[in-house]
This record gives sequence, structure tokens and C-alpha cells, in this order.
Amino acid sequence: MKIGVYPGSFDPTTNGHMDIIDRACKLVDILIVGVLNNPDKTPYLNLDKRVKLLKELTKDLNNVMIEPFSGLLVDFVASKNANIIIRGFRAISDFEYELQLAQTNFMLNDTIETIFLVSRNEYVYISSSMVKQLVEFGGDISGMVPKVTMELMDRENKIRKQEG
Ligand code: PNS
Repeated sequence: MKIGVYPGSFDPTTNGHMDIIDRACKLVDILIVGVLNNPDKTPYLNLDKRVKLLKELTKDLNNVMIEPFSGLLVDFVASKNANIIIRGFRAISDFEYELQLAQTNFMLNDTIETIFLVSRNEYVYISSSMVKQLVEFGGDISGMVPKVTMELMDRENKIRKQEG
């Protein structure tokens, strides 16, 4: 049984992420989307919201599971009996970070391979950080994220503005 893990912060999930999930789940028997819980950072969407959003977005994909994780990625991957990490690759600007991540993970556990799926052209410019900036300043994110993400970001933005 081939089990792959697609890890990330998913703050929030974009069309680019969804494309990778759609394609990655066809390459493995089970795809676990690992949602990072990093206690040192305050995300835009809390862990629970990020996990729930991904569950909603992948509800029709039978072999996709959504699970939060903290600590080292390789430990999470091994604990799931998985041996493949899947990452999306958009542009050369991703290269240095992704190489460092993949090599560190390989050094920590050389039974786990990292596989990269290149981004489709239409998603190359999309990032969660850009989406957050646009939301903050009232920009249109409809071409960058699924409708459910857009609605959630809209609600979250209103709550934040009310709270000041
Ligand atoms: O979506 P992101 O933020 O680019 O995802 C980064 C992620 C979650 C893959 C990376 O930060 C990660 O694996 N964090 C867990 C800690 C870890 O194992 N780091 C790599 C070795 S230092």
C-alpha cells in the first residue's frame, strides 16, 4: 500500500493546493494531507479552521485524509506508515527552500522520499501569503481560491476588523 503525505500550512488552501491534492491522490493509495500546527506562529486561520476547510474541500476524494501534525514532518510521515512526501513546485523561487527541506528530511530519514509535482501554469503565481494580503486590503481572490475558502476568509476578515 502506497501512502503519501502532502504537508503544508494551508493558511488558507488555494486553487494551487487543490490541484496538487487532485493529482497526488491519483499517484498513491492513500493521501494524507498533513496540516502543520506550529505553536511558534499565529496563523490567519487557526488549526481547526484549516483542517475543517480541507475536509470540506476534499469530501469527494475517497482516498484523501486530512490530519493535523506538529513536530518533525518525517516523524509524522513515519507514524502514518507512509514513505512519500509530496510537495508542489511553482517557480525557481521555491527551489532553495524546497531543496533544503527535502534534503533535511532525507538526512533525518532516508527511507522517506520527497516527490515534487510542478504547478500548472495558471496557479504559478498563487500563494497563501498573497491571498492573505489581498483579503486584508479588500482585493479580489476569487481566481485564486475555492469558493468555500473565499467565504471563510471573508468571514474571518470581518471578525478581525470587528475586533480591531
Ligand atoms: O506550506 P508550507 O508552510 O510551505 O509548509 C512547510 C512545511 C509544513 C512542509 C514545513 O514547515 C514542515 O515540514 N514543518 C515541520 C517541521 C519540520 O519537519 N521541518 C523540516 C526539517 S527542519
